[in-house]
Amino acid sequence: MPPIISVNNLSKIYTSYKKQAGIRGSLRHLFRGEKIATQAVQNINFSIDEGELVGFLGPNGAGKTTTLKMLSGIIHPTNGEAKVLGFTPWERKTSYLKQISLVMGQKAQLWWDLPGRESFLLTRAIYEIPDNEFNARLKKLSTLLKITKLLDVPVRQLSLGERMKMELINALLHNPRVLFLDEPTIGLDVVAQKIIRDFLKEFNHVLKTTILLTSHYMEDVEALCRRVIVINQGVIIYDGLLETLVKKYARYKILKLTFLKEIKKADLKLFGKVVHFGGISAELQVSRGKSTDIAAEILKKLPVDDILIDEVGVNEVVRSLFSVSNS
Ligand SMILES: Nc1ncnc2c1ncn2[C@@H]1O[C@H](COP(=O)(O)OP(=O)(O)OP(=O)(O)O)[C@@H](O)[C@H]1O
Ligand SMILES: [Mg+2]
Repeated sequence: MPPIISVNNLSKIYTSYKKQAGIRGSLRHLFRGEKIATQAVQNINFSIDEGELVGFLGPNGAGKTTTLKMLSGIIHPTNGEAKVLGFTPWERKTSYLKQISLVMGQKAQLWWDLPGRESFLLTRAIYEIPDNEFNARLKKLSTLLKITKLLDVPVRQLSLGERMKMELINALLHNPRVLFLDEPTIGLDVVAQKIIRDFLKEFNHVLKTTILLTSHYMEDVEALCRRVIVINQGVIIYDGLLETLVKKYARYKILKLTFLKEIKKADLKLFGKVVHFGGISAELQVSRGKSTDIAAEILKKLPVDDILIDEVGVNEVVRSLFSVSNS
Protein backbone atom coordinates (compact mmCIF):
# COMPACT_ATOMS: atom_id res chain seq x y z
CA MET A 1 0.00 0.00 0.00
CA PRO A 2 1.43 3.43 -0.88
CA PRO A 3 1.92 5.83 2.03
CA ILE A 4 -1.04 8.04 2.88
CA ILE A 5 1.23 11.09 3.23
CA SER A 6 4.38 11.58 1.22
CA VAL A 7 6.50 14.68 1.27
CA ASN A 8 9.30 15.26 -1.25
CA ASN A 9 11.85 18.04 -0.97
CA LEU A 10 9.26 20.38 0.43
CA SER A 11 10.43 23.92 1.21
CA LYS A 12 8.81 27.11 2.34
CA ILE A 13 10.38 30.54 2.28
CA TYR A 14 8.26 33.34 3.77
CA THR A 15 8.83 36.78 2.37
CA SER A 16 8.07 39.76 4.53
CA TYR A 17 9.08 43.40 4.52
CA LYS A 18 11.04 45.05 7.25
CA LYS A 19 9.37 48.10 8.73
CA GLN A 20 11.57 50.88 10.04
CA ALA A 21 10.72 52.62 13.28
CA GLY A 22 8.35 55.62 13.47
CA ILE A 23 6.09 57.28 10.92
CA ARG A 24 8.93 58.07 8.56
CA GLY A 25 9.76 54.42 8.73
CA SER A 26 6.19 53.51 7.85
CA LEU A 27 6.18 55.82 4.86
CA ARG A 28 9.59 54.81 3.67
CA HIS A 29 8.39 51.26 3.98
CA LEU A 30 5.73 51.99 1.34
CA PHE A 31 8.40 52.76 -1.19
CA ARG A 32 11.38 50.63 -0.40
CA GLY A 33 10.74 48.25 2.45
CA GLU A 34 13.59 45.90 2.97
CA LYS A 35 12.66 42.40 1.88
CA ILE A 36 13.30 39.63 4.37
CA ALA A 37 13.20 35.98 3.44
CA THR A 38 12.72 33.36 6.14
CA GLN A 39 13.43 29.79 5.20
CA ALA A 40 10.91 28.08 7.46
CA VAL A 41 11.12 24.61 5.92
CA GLN A 42 14.05 23.31 3.93
CA ASN A 43 13.85 20.31 1.59
CA ILE A 44 12.04 17.99 3.94
CA ASN A 45 11.16 14.40 3.08
CA PHE A 46 9.05 11.84 4.91
CA SER A 47 6.19 9.47 4.40
CA ILE A 48 3.48 8.22 6.70
CA ASP A 49 1.38 5.09 6.35
CA GLU A 50 -2.34 4.86 6.90
CA GLY A 51 -3.22 4.54 10.58
CA GLU A 52 0.09 5.84 11.93
CA LEU A 53 0.17 8.38 14.75
CA VAL A 54 3.38 10.32 14.32
CA GLY A 55 4.80 12.99 16.62
CA PHE A 56 6.27 16.02 14.89
CA LEU A 57 8.72 17.62 17.29
CA GLY A 58 10.93 20.64 17.26
CA PRO A 59 11.74 23.82 19.18
CA ASN A 60 9.92 27.13 18.62
CA GLY A 61 10.20 28.33 15.06
CA ALA A 62 11.41 24.96 13.73
CA GLY A 63 8.84 24.82 10.92
CA LYS A 64 6.20 22.49 12.35
CA THR A 65 3.15 24.69 11.90
CA THR A 66 4.38 25.72 8.45
CA THR A 67 4.58 22.07 7.42
CA LEU A 68 1.12 21.29 8.78
CA LYS A 69 -0.28 24.32 6.99
CA MET A 70 1.18 23.13 3.69
CA LEU A 71 -0.13 19.60 4.19
CA SER A 72 -3.60 20.83 5.02
CA GLY A 73 -3.57 23.15 2.01
CA ILE A 74 -3.66 26.49 3.82
CA ILE A 75 -0.43 27.73 2.27
CA HIS A 76 1.58 26.91 -0.85
CA PRO A 77 5.14 25.66 -0.59
CA THR A 78 7.96 27.54 -2.32
CA ASN A 79 9.30 24.28 -3.71
CA GLY A 80 8.73 20.58 -3.60
CA GLU A 81 5.84 18.19 -3.61
CA ALA A 82 3.47 16.53 -1.22
CA LYS A 83 0.71 14.01 -1.70
CA VAL A 84 -1.86 13.28 0.94
CA LEU A 85 -4.48 10.65 0.08
CA GLY A 86 -3.32 11.04 -3.51
CA PHE A 87 -4.06 14.78 -3.57
CA THR A 88 -1.77 17.78 -3.75
CA PRO A 89 -3.02 19.56 -0.61
CA TRP A 90 -2.69 23.18 -1.75
CA GLU A 91 -4.91 22.55 -4.78
CA ARG A 92 -7.64 22.52 -2.13
CA LYS A 93 -9.97 20.13 -3.92
CA THR A 94 -13.25 19.73 -2.06
CA SER A 95 -12.88 15.96 -2.15
CA TYR A 96 -9.53 16.40 -0.38
CA LEU A 97 -10.69 18.86 2.26
CA LYS A 98 -13.59 16.57 3.12
CA GLN A 99 -11.16 13.84 4.13
CA ILE A 100 -8.81 15.80 6.36
CA SER A 101 -8.87 18.09 9.36
CA LEU A 102 -6.50 20.55 10.99
CA VAL A 103 -6.81 21.51 14.63
CA MET A 104 -4.67 24.29 16.00
CA GLY A 105 -4.49 24.62 19.76
CA GLN A 106 -3.66 28.30 19.45
CA LYS A 107 -6.38 29.22 17.01
CA ALA A 108 -10.10 28.79 17.55
CA GLN A 109 -12.24 27.79 14.60
CA LEU A 110 -15.58 27.69 16.39
CA TRP A 111 -17.98 30.60 16.54
CA TRP A 112 -17.38 32.39 19.79
CA ASP A 113 -20.98 33.40 20.51
CA LEU A 114 -22.63 30.16 19.52
CA PRO A 115 -22.96 27.02 21.57
CA GLY A 116 -20.88 24.14 20.23
CA ARG A 117 -23.96 22.32 19.00
CA GLU A 118 -24.87 25.16 16.64
CA SER A 119 -21.39 25.43 15.18
CA PHE A 120 -21.52 21.69 14.63
CA LEU A 121 -24.73 22.10 12.61
CA LEU A 122 -22.84 24.44 10.31
CA THR A 123 -20.09 21.89 9.98
CA ARG A 124 -22.70 19.26 9.18
CA ALA A 125 -24.01 21.45 6.35
CA ILE A 126 -20.57 22.34 4.98
CA TYR A 127 -19.39 18.75 4.92
CA GLU A 128 -22.82 17.38 3.93
CA ILE A 129 -22.77 14.85 6.76
CA PRO A 130 -25.88 12.64 6.75
CA ASP A 131 -28.15 13.24 9.78
CA ASN A 132 -27.85 9.81 11.31
CA GLU A 133 -24.05 9.79 11.03
CA PHE A 134 -23.86 13.29 12.46
CA ASN A 135 -26.01 12.45 15.47
CA ALA A 136 -24.21 9.21 16.21
CA ARG A 137 -20.77 10.82 15.94
CA LEU A 138 -21.68 13.84 18.01
CA LYS A 139 -22.97 11.58 20.74
CA LYS A 140 -19.92 9.34 20.63
CA LEU A 141 -17.37 12.17 20.52
CA SER A 142 -18.97 14.25 23.25
CA THR A 143 -19.28 11.23 25.51
CA LEU A 144 -15.66 10.20 24.99
CA LEU A 145 -14.53 13.76 25.75
CA LYS A 146 -16.92 14.00 28.72
CA ILE A 147 -18.51 17.17 27.49
CA THR A 148 -22.13 16.26 26.66
CA LYS A 149 -23.53 18.69 29.21
CA LEU A 150 -21.76 21.65 27.67
CA LEU A 151 -22.97 21.34 24.08
CA ASP A 152 -25.54 24.12 24.54
CA VAL A 153 -23.33 26.62 26.33
CA PRO A 154 -21.89 29.46 24.21
CA VAL A 155 -18.27 28.68 23.46
CA ARG A 156 -17.09 31.98 24.95
CA GLN A 157 -18.25 30.79 28.38
CA LEU A 158 -16.22 27.59 28.27
CA SER A 159 -12.81 26.99 29.80
CA LEU A 160 -9.80 26.57 27.55
CA GLY A 161 -9.85 22.79 27.93
CA GLU A 162 -13.57 22.56 27.25
CA ARG A 163 -13.17 24.71 24.16
CA MET A 164 -10.38 22.51 22.88
CA LYS A 165 -12.61 19.47 23.27
CA MET A 166 -15.31 21.26 21.26
CA GLU A 167 -12.72 22.07 18.58
CA LEU A 168 -11.78 18.41 18.40
CA ILE A 169 -15.39 17.33 18.03
CA ASN A 170 -15.87 19.89 15.29
CA ALA A 171 -12.78 18.62 13.49
CA LEU A 172 -13.84 15.00 13.67
CA LEU A 173 -17.54 15.13 12.83
CA HIS A 174 -16.89 14.49 9.15
CA ASN A 175 -14.76 11.49 10.05
CA PRO A 176 -11.51 12.60 8.41
CA ARG A 177 -9.00 9.98 7.32
CA VAL A 178 -6.09 12.26 8.13
CA LEU A 179 -5.88 14.54 11.13
CA PHE A 180 -3.28 17.27 11.58
CA LEU A 181 -3.02 18.39 15.19
CA ASP A 182 -0.96 21.44 16.06
CA GLU A 183 -0.47 21.53 19.82
CA PRO A 184 -3.92 20.28 20.79
CA THR A 185 -3.12 20.28 24.51
CA ILE A 186 -1.36 23.62 24.81
CA GLY A 187 -2.18 25.48 28.01
CA LEU A 188 -4.46 22.75 29.35
CA ASP A 189 -4.32 21.32 32.84
CA VAL A 190 -3.06 17.78 33.33
CA VAL A 191 -6.55 16.28 33.62
CA ALA A 192 -7.79 17.80 30.37
CA GLN A 193 -4.51 16.89 28.69
CA LYS A 194 -4.95 13.29 29.70
CA ILE A 195 -8.57 13.12 28.53
CA ILE A 196 -7.55 14.48 25.13
CA ARG A 197 -4.57 12.16 24.94
CA ASP A 198 -6.65 9.08 25.77
CA PHE A 199 -9.26 10.22 23.31
CA LEU A 200 -6.74 10.57 20.48
CA LYS A 201 -5.26 7.20 21.24
CA GLU A 202 -8.65 5.53 21.15
CA PHE A 203 -9.64 7.40 18.02
CA ASN A 204 -6.49 6.41 16.17
CA HIS A 205 -6.78 2.85 17.39
CA VAL A 206 -10.44 2.24 16.58
CA LEU A 207 -10.90 4.26 13.40
CA LYS A 208 -7.32 3.98 12.10
CA THR A 209 -7.29 7.71 11.51
CA THR A 210 -3.80 8.81 10.47
CA ILE A 211 -2.56 11.51 12.83
CA LEU A 212 0.38 13.91 12.60
CA LEU A 213 0.72 15.68 15.92
CA THR A 214 2.90 18.47 17.22
CA SER A 215 3.24 19.05 20.92
CA HIS A 216 5.72 20.63 23.27
CA TYR A 217 4.52 18.25 25.98
CA MET A 218 6.61 15.14 25.98
CA GLU A 219 3.92 13.35 28.01
CA ASP A 220 1.71 13.54 24.92
CA VAL A 221 4.45 12.25 22.70
CA GLU A 222 5.42 9.41 25.04
CA ALA A 223 1.83 8.32 25.49
CA LEU A 224 0.84 8.48 21.85
CA CYS A 225 3.68 8.23 19.37
CA ARG A 226 5.80 5.23 18.54
CA ARG A 227 7.42 7.18 15.77
CA VAL A 228 8.62 10.77 15.82
CA ILE A 229 9.94 13.15 13.22
CA VAL A 230 12.18 15.84 14.67
CA ILE A 231 12.66 19.12 12.83
CA ASN A 232 15.07 21.91 13.72
CA GLN A 233 15.55 25.14 11.79
CA GLY A 234 13.50 23.77 8.92
CA VAL A 235 15.55 20.59 8.55
CA ILE A 236 14.56 17.08 9.62
CA ILE A 237 17.15 15.78 12.02
CA TYR A 238 15.53 12.52 13.10
CA ASP A 239 12.81 10.23 11.78
CA GLY A 240 12.29 6.93 13.52
CA LEU A 241 11.13 5.18 16.66
CA LEU A 242 10.89 7.29 19.80
CA GLU A 243 12.48 4.42 21.70
CA THR A 244 15.54 4.44 19.44
CA LEU A 245 15.82 8.21 19.77
CA VAL A 246 15.94 7.90 23.54
CA LYS A 247 18.50 5.09 23.42
CA LYS A 248 20.66 6.91 20.92
CA TYR A 249 20.66 10.35 22.42
CA ALA A 250 20.16 9.93 26.13
CA ARG A 251 23.45 10.95 27.67
CA TYR A 252 22.38 10.05 31.18
CA LYS A 253 20.57 7.43 33.15
CA ILE A 254 18.74 7.93 36.39
CA LEU A 255 19.53 5.83 39.44
CA LYS A 256 16.50 5.56 41.70
CA LEU A 257 17.65 4.74 45.19
CA THR A 258 16.04 3.86 48.50
CA PHE A 259 18.12 3.54 51.64
CA LEU A 260 17.76 1.53 54.82
CA LYS A 261 18.34 4.69 56.86
CA GLU A 262 18.64 8.40 56.15
CA ILE A 263 21.79 9.48 54.41
CA LYS A 264 23.39 12.86 53.78
CA LYS A 265 23.01 14.54 50.42
CA ALA A 266 26.73 15.26 50.38
CA ASP A 267 27.45 11.52 50.38
CA LEU A 268 25.50 11.12 47.18
CA LYS A 269 26.97 14.09 45.38
CA LEU A 270 30.22 12.17 45.04
CA PHE A 271 28.52 9.81 42.56
CA GLY A 272 26.60 12.12 40.25
CA LYS A 273 24.06 14.91 40.02
CA VAL A 274 21.37 14.62 42.67
CA VAL A 275 18.09 15.43 40.94
CA HIS A 276 15.85 14.47 43.85
CA PHE A 277 16.65 14.04 47.51
CA GLY A 278 14.30 12.84 50.24
CA GLY A 279 16.58 11.50 53.00
CA ILE A 280 15.86 7.81 52.56
CA SER A 281 15.17 8.09 48.84
CA ALA A 282 16.98 9.88 46.05
CA GLU A 283 17.43 10.13 42.33
CA LEU A 284 20.82 10.51 40.80
CA GLN A 285 21.67 11.47 37.24
CA VAL A 286 24.75 9.64 36.03
CA SER A 287 26.42 9.39 32.66
CA ARG A 288 25.03 6.58 30.57
CA GLY A 289 28.11 4.45 30.10
CA LYS A 290 29.04 4.51 33.78
CA SER A 291 25.65 3.76 35.33
CA THR A 292 26.34 0.13 36.31
CA ASP A 293 29.79 0.91 37.73
CA ILE A 294 28.39 3.78 39.78
CA ALA A 295 25.49 1.64 40.97
CA ALA A 296 27.99 -0.99 42.17
CA GLU A 297 30.04 1.68 43.96
CA ILE A 298 26.97 3.04 45.72
CA LEU A 299 25.94 -0.47 46.79
CA LYS A 300 29.34 -0.91 48.40
CA LYS A 301 29.46 2.43 50.18
CA LEU A 302 25.91 3.36 51.18
CA PRO A 303 23.15 1.46 53.03
CA VAL A 304 21.07 0.76 49.94
CA ASP A 305 17.72 -0.97 50.26
CA ASP A 306 16.79 -0.84 46.59
CA ILE A 307 18.31 0.48 43.39
CA LEU A 308 16.81 0.91 39.94
CA ILE A 309 18.45 2.15 36.77
CA ASP A 310 16.03 4.14 34.64
CA GLU A 311 16.12 6.06 31.36
CA VAL A 312 15.91 9.85 31.51
CA GLY A 313 12.67 11.39 30.25
CA VAL A 314 12.06 12.08 26.59
CA ASN A 315 12.11 15.77 27.50
CA GLU A 316 15.76 15.64 28.39
CA VAL A 317 16.62 13.66 25.27
CA VAL A 318 14.87 16.02 22.91
CA ARG A 319 16.42 19.03 24.60
CA SER A 320 19.89 17.57 24.23
CA LEU A 321 19.18 16.70 20.60
CA PHE A 322 18.33 20.32 19.82
CA SER A 323 21.36 21.65 21.60
CA VAL A 324 23.62 19.23 19.69
CA SER A 325 22.16 20.18 16.32
CA ASN A 326 22.30 23.90 17.08
CA SER A 327 25.94 23.91 18.02
N1 LIG B 1 3.56 34.26 8.01
C1 LIG B 1 4.87 34.28 8.23
N2 LIG B 1 5.66 35.24 7.69
C2 LIG B 1 6.99 35.25 7.91
N3 LIG B 1 7.64 34.34 8.65
C3 LIG B 1 6.91 33.36 9.23
C4 LIG B 1 5.48 33.28 9.06
N4 LIG B 1 5.04 32.21 9.75
C5 LIG B 1 6.12 31.66 10.32
N5 LIG B 1 7.24 32.33 10.01
C6 LIG B 1 8.62 31.98 10.43
O1 LIG B 1 8.91 30.68 9.95
C7 LIG B 1 9.63 29.92 10.91
C8 LIG B 1 8.87 28.65 11.24
O2 LIG B 1 7.67 28.98 11.92
P1 LIG B 1 6.61 27.89 12.39
O3 LIG B 1 5.41 28.61 12.87
O4 LIG B 1 6.42 26.89 11.31
O5 LIG B 1 7.39 27.20 13.60
P2 LIG B 1 6.89 26.10 14.65
O6 LIG B 1 7.82 24.95 14.55
O7 LIG B 1 5.45 25.83 14.47
O8 LIG B 1 7.17 26.84 16.05
P3 LIG B 1 6.33 26.82 17.43
O9 LIG B 1 6.78 25.61 18.17
O10 LIG B 1 6.79 28.07 18.11
O11 LIG B 1 4.88 26.83 17.10
C9 LIG B 1 9.85 30.86 12.09
O12 LIG B 1 11.11 31.42 11.94
C10 LIG B 1 8.76 31.91 11.93
O13 LIG B 1 9.17 33.13 12.46
MG1 LIG C 1 3.80 26.13 15.68
